[in-house]
Amino acid sequence: MSPLRHPKTDMAIDIPQELIDKLAQARRVAVLTGAGISAESGIPTFRDALTGLWANYDPQTLATPEGFARDPRLVWEWYAARRARIADVRPNPGHAALAALERRFEQFTLVTQNIDSLHQRAGSHEVVELHGNITRVKCSREEILVSQFAQDESPPRCPCGAYLRPDVVWFGEMLPADALARAEEAAEHCEIFLSIGTSAQVYPAAELPLRALSAGATVIEINPERTSLTRHAHFSLRGASGLVLPQLLDHLNAASA
Ligand code: OAD
Repeated sequence: MSPLRHPKTDMAIDIPQELIDKLAQARRVAVLTGAGISAESGIPTFRDALTGLWANYDPQTLATPEGFARDPRLVWEWYAARRARIADVRPNPGHAALAALERRFEQFTLVTQNIDSLHQRAGSHEVVELHGNITRVKCSREEILVSQFAQDESPPRCPCGAYLRPDVVWFGEMLPADALARAEEAAEHCEIFLSIGTSAQVYPAAELPLRALSAGATVIEINPERTSLTRHAHFSLRGASGLVLPQLLDHLNAASA
């Protein structure tokens, strides 16, 4: 499937020349994405007041180990419905622009809180997944990934007898240590840090732009709304990532033509 086109790509976003110059000269770039980058693909974010998942569903019930222990079927089926929705959507121009940006820099680390694989489907190769991936399934007891299982129970069971669960990080759980280490390393050694489509409220992901700031990087935020990061960022591009990122890429291409 080809990436979605944005219906409003002719809407120009004001991108400061200083930002483009800095990006054109950079060799090491780190990016953190959140649910906002997938919003234009049709996947709801978490904290938008009306449409956000956590406005309509209780995270304690659906995204904690305790919630799963209380009602494994409810949790499994909620994730199954989300998995089906994700399988049905396409990467948008924001994902595509990030895949193109990856090829421009000596070091480019794309860290995502998203579990939807849309970066990979858009062509990004090196994606650090901080919160897991909804397409994978693991044993709730042994923590090992399981690729084949009988579908006749909900949730299905591991050969060891325990329930299977999605390989995503729930509230109260540790992030995958290797992914977090790679993300922190990238944040501390980049020249430019882009924070895209995240409300910057969930730690430790929200700490990454602050680490980059402390290490001297230029921090750029792309988000239609202000967040707790906005006042710290050197540049804040106020717009949808599916509009801003393709324009940023065009400016960068023009600067190096
Ligand atoms: P949030 O729902 O908290 O924030 C989404 C952000 O995207 C908001 O700041 C929106 O303003 C912004 N946004 C909306 N549309 C956008 C667009 N078209 N382009 C760019 N930005 C847009 O989602 P996250 O910050 O990703 O964790 O949430 C972090 C974590 O909290 C998630 O990974 C999830 C959730 O609970 C777990 O489930 C463990």
